[in-house]
Order: sequence, then C-alpha cells, then structure tokens
Amino acid sequence: MNHDELQQAAREHLILHFTRHQAAFAGELLVLDRGEGPYVFDTAGRRYIDALSSLFCAQIGYSYGEEMVSAIADQLPRLAFNTNWATAHPPAIELAERLAQLMPGDLNHVFFTSGGSESVEAAWKIVREHFEAIGQPQRRKAIARNIAYHGVTLGALAFTGVAPMKEPFGPPPIDVTHVSNTNAFRAPDGDDPDAFCARLIHEMRDAIGAAGADEVALIIAEPVQNSGGCLVAPPGYWQGLRELADECGALLLADEVICAFGRLGEWLGVEREGVVPDLATVAKGLTSAYAPMGAVLVSDRVAEPLYREGVLLRHGITFGGHPLAAVVALRSLEIFERDGVLENVRAHEPRLEARMQELRSLPIVGDVRGRGFFWAVELVRDGANHTFDRSERDRLLRGFLPRRLLEAGLIARPDDRGDSVLQIAPPLVCDGAVLDEIVDRLRDVLIDAGQYMDVADTAGVA
Ligand SMILES: Cc1ncc(COP(=O)(O)O)c(C=O)c1O
Repeated sequence: MNHDELQQAAREHLILHFTRHQAAFAGELLVLDRGEGPYVFDTAGRRYIDALSSLFCAQIGYSYGEEMVSAIADQLPRLAFNTNWATAHPPAIELAERLAQLMPGDLNHVFFTSGGSESVEAAWKIVREHFEAIGQPQRRKAIARNIAYHGVTLGALAFTGVAPMKEPFGPPPIDVTHVSNTNAFRAPDGDDPDAFCARLIHEMRDAIGAAGADEVALIIAEPVQNSGGCLVAPPGYWQGLRELADECGALLLADEVICAFGRLGEWLGVEREGVVPDLATVAKGLTSAYAPMGAVLVSDRVAEPLYREGVLLRHGITFGGHPLAAVVALRSLEIFERDGVLENVRAHEPRLEARMQELRSLPIVGDVRGRGFFWAVELVRDGANHTFDRSERDRLLRGFLPRRLLEAGLIARPDDRGDSVLQIAPPLVCDGAVLDEIVDRLRDVLIDAGQYMDVADTAGVA
C-alpha cells in the first residue's frame, strides 16, 4: 500500500491504542515505515529522531535487524514454538539463566510473559501463590502510588493509580491502597530530600497499618516513575521501602518495565538505589523491541515455595517465553555487552542532564527531572509555576505539541496523567551529537509552545 492507501485503510480498519480516534484521523496519522540507528522514517519518507524509543522499548535503536534475523533464522526452522507449560525449550532456559546471571542479588528465577501488564499480573499471582504456600493466605492487599502506571489489563489496572483510566471498568479485583508518589516539584518539603523522604515513608507506613500489616502482600513501585513525568525518588526512599516490606512481611516489587535494560544505565533501574527487590517486572527493553516479551524476575526466597511437593503455580500464558522472542532477547543482551550499551548511557548521562537542565531558563519549563536516558520537563503557565487548566492542556498537549514536535522531526511525549510534562527517552545507543540535537529541537519546540500559550517572557528567550 502507498502512503494515502495506508491512511485510508487505517481510518477504516485500525483501532488504535489509547487514542482519540477522531482527532488522530482528522489530520495525518503518523505511520512509521522504517528505522535506522535512532531515526525513524514515515511512509512519506520524513525522518524523525525517535527520542522516545518507541514508547521506551527500542533500547538499541533500529539498526540491528539483520542480526536479529540471523538469530531467528537459526531458531525457527529448528523449532517454531513450544510452551513453557510443564515443558520448555532451550532458548527460554538459556535466557532465564542469562537473566539470573545479569540481575542483582538473588533474582534467580524467571517467569516469561508477552508484555508489561502480563508481567505485573503474573507477579501478583506468584506473590499470592507464595503466601498461600507459606501459610499466610490472608495477605491479599497491596500498596502502590498515585498516578503510577502499571498496565491496564484488569488485574494490572488495580495497581495503576491513574483514576480516569479505571473508572469505567468497575471495582478492581485487587485491594490496592495508593499513596503519594515521589514528585518533589510541588511537594511542600520537596526541596528538603530528607524531610520529603521521611514523610513519604511515614505515609506508606500509615497506609500499611490501615490496611492491616499482616494482610499486605506487596509494595509495588517503579525506580523512576514514568507517569507524572520521570519522578525520581529521594535518597533513602528505596531503602525505606525495603525496610517497610521487611517489617510487615510483605514483598517488594520493582516495576522495571521502563527502567530495566539500561534506561537508567544499569540492568535494573533499582540497582542505582542499592536495594534488591523480591520481584521485578520487565518487558519493553528486554528484547529492545525486536520481539514482544516480558518477564517476572523472582528471588530465591519468593520462588522457593513454588518448588515444594504438590504446589501448583496457577498461572500460565500460552506464548510467554516464545522461542522467537527468547532468541531475540538473548541476542539483544549480547549486543548490550558487545557494544557497551550500559556504558554509553553512563558516559552520556551527565551531558544529557546538563543540557536538559538548561531548559529551565524557558518560562514554560517549571521543572526538569530524570535519570539516565529518561527525562521530563514539567510545563507551567507562568513564572509562578501555575499549572495549565483542562482546556489549556488540550490545546498544548493534544493540539500544539504533537504537531510541532513532528514538524521539528522529533518524537517525544506530551503527557498529563499527572501535571503537564514533555518526556524524552532516547535509544540507549545515541551519541552526544544526537542527544544534543534532541535537546536543541526540544528547546525550539518549547520556545514556540511558550509563545503559543502566551507564557510570560517567552518571546525574549532564544
Ligand atoms: C511501569 C509499567 N508497568 C507496566 C506497563 C504495562 O506494559 P504493557 O503496555 O507492555 O502491557 C507499562 C507500560 O508502559 C509500564 O510503564
């Protein structure tokens, strides 16, 4: 199909995810046709820097297709598929072993899924089976954080803390208490990291007490929370979560669907916090998006009861750990090591951070936050950091920015599940020149956005 035929057929047949279809189809739908390094090209041949890594997935960018094809070419003629239901196949076993070697602490057991929501739900089932097996079946509750996104299938949706996404779908199947996230920007004590951290941990301790300490099974959190705009935890927060979980006998789950596989410069983002969780959920970057796959990484202690006589894990997903995805993940991990992908993030983080922080000089930018190759700017109404109201957000985040970003040849993410933010998460193979180019283009777009929204003094900044 040519460009116009694709536009027409999409309008007629394709249901898009999380999309206001009328608006999406009112203009031209972005249809990407090919990729090269950190760049993607649409069906009209226009080039963009994919500064969002295809929704936090394309860790190694788009130039490794041939290598992936050779991995698949060895596997598919040999064995196209077998499940991991009471049987297995070599790629799943080899990938499980490789992940166990790479991951911190005793996260030595791996349950494969096909994506992030499935990983979160599978993790919950594993947690429940763990507590059933060790004689604590009353632990059925969880603690999560406001505005956090943990997926939208009905089980995972219970952990998600974005109210409008939940309302139409009835009462959640899991009893989850949502507590404050780690957004320091508007917090009264946000400029005092110790006080901020102490307050957040205190609040969570209270929430655990209110739920009943011996009824809480799980604390779930992302190392850097995506929704709300790259919310970094204050120092000591993750140690606090670890202590709270241990105190009350609950398990600690790091939802690493975005942060794992180098986004923060480590295999798991939580490694930067010096804490080992009991479980970690991963997906997106596990295969660098050359195939769909997710996984739950489980510690020795949590997994142990699953191996006891007569214990059945009552959970399974037909395609979880598909051989095609497993060989692609193995190849992606090899590429990470061979091409120094984690090292590239560590080497360039200071420069990217410095360049992002320069954007604070723009009146429309109230805050800049993030880590690794994962950054957000919070967009504000004026120098007093007032937030945009609903209709302003529609104009800015759903009208102006998507169009202007594409004009600038940049894929980035305007989002207002929390306050208004613009996020970037470039492929982890970007060099300094591409990162500079991303920030330069972002700056141009933000200057124009400030003028468009009539944010004070913007016209004078160039
Ligand atoms: C932290 C986190 N958990 C879970 C999910 C759900 O993943 P998926 O969209 O692959 O189901 C996402 C998706 O963005 C996520 O960011």
